[in-house]
Amino acid sequence: MENSRILITCPKELPQYLAQELVALGFPVIDKTIAGIETAGSLDDTMRLNLHLRTAHRVLLHLKSFTAADADDLYANAYGIEWEELIDEDEYLSVHSSVDDPSITNPLFANVKCKDAIVDRIKAKRGRRPDSGSGMTGAVVFQYWKAGKCSIYLDTSGDPLPRRGYRKVPLKAPMQETLAAAVVMATGWNGNENFINPMCGSGTLAIEAALIALNRAPAILRGNFGFMHIKGFNRGKWDDLRADAKSVAKKSLPGMIIATDNNPSAIRAARNNASTAGLEHLIKFNTCDFRETEIPAGGGIVVMNPEYGERLGRMSRLENTYKEIGDFFKQKCGGYSGYIFTGNFDLAKKIGLRPKRRMPFFNSNIECRLLEYELYEGSRRNPKL
Ligand SMILES: C[S@@+](CC[C@H](N)C(=O)[O-])C[C@H]1O[C@@H](n2cnc3c(N)ncnc32)[C@H](O)[C@@H]1O
Repeated sequence: MENSRILITCPKELPQYLAQELVALGFPVIDKTIAGIETAGSLDDTMRLNLHLRTAHRVLLHLKSFTAADADDLYANAYGIEWEELIDEDEYLSVHSSVDDPSITNPLFANVKCKDAIVDRIKAKRGRRPDSGSGMTGAVVFQYWKAGKCSIYLDTSGDPLPRRGYRKVPLKAPMQETLAAAVVMATGWNGNENFINPMCGSGTLAIEAALIALNRAPAILRGNFGFMHIKGFNRGKWDDLRADAKSVAKKSLPGMIIATDNNPSAIRAARNNASTAGLEHLIKFNTCDFRETEIPAGGGIVVMNPEYGERLGRMSRLENTYKEIGDFFKQKCGGYSGYIFTGNFDLAKKIGLRPKRRMPFFNSNIECRLLEYELYEGSRRNPKL
């Protein structure tokens, strides 16, 4: 497993951000798909990837690819992998999959077949078999099976990577951590100017912005990963990687981070989440209407993720809110770059400013845009359009 294929999955539209991260970490981008990137490395490399990647969901270490006409083929091929060298008989095992094959109507059946092959093989070689179930707290195996082609991977992440460990209170309609990280990357914010996040909800954008600008490893709070349950896990190397990550993280930033929301329980949740992340001192929280948000001199980024009617909020009220966001941008945010993340393109038109850029994203399966507005200081060169 010294130079294995590694498939890193992410939400749609995030591979371009994931690719930037991989290159910065010194990993090759071998192939890019709609929701993932293939790179290469060892089991030890997966530790670095799991610790540092902000936009990834899972880091999958490739074991074997084969053609499988049915579940018996799957079993036979999976049984051929030397599982006894990878997973201890006293481990806890779970198998999950993405299956789109005519021979399988129930993906759970494919999981069971693969799990049976693994535990049967370990029992035959070691005399005992691991316990298994659906919790991803131990060794995790992933299989991808599409149109007769099957690949089996060690899922070195276990619990997916957006679960950073700081969001104890998600509140309503929170943005997923990986998506928030990509949105911050798309704004180009680096901590030197201000980062203002009215309508912050549970604080995900502000927290991810702080983690990025501080160069803090996103998974530093997590105590458990799939790779820890694979034979050969190098605890000493993991401790060194964590210590290195901590030593290069900055403690403070030149720019201010301000996060506000008019819902006091959102601000309570956001404060709690920031405090769990060890960032409470860096983010200035306030309960207020977005129009009352403090916009300090010096410029920077104002980013807002208003409701867009899919999950919360009613349309006519939202039309008015979007119009008011446009007014707020024009009247109070001169000298800043304004960003709106929304899944409703009709509502976005109510902002009344022409976007400089429209960056595509997906929020689960809802197509969204991050709209960028250049907000000029003093006389507006960008009147209602
Ligand atoms: C879609 S949520 C933001 C979710 C956030 N990105 C997160 O990750 O949790 C929209 C937020 O806007 C807030 N909001 C709605 N109208 C507001 C207003 N007039 N002023 C300030 N906040 C408002 C809501 O309380 C809600 O928390």
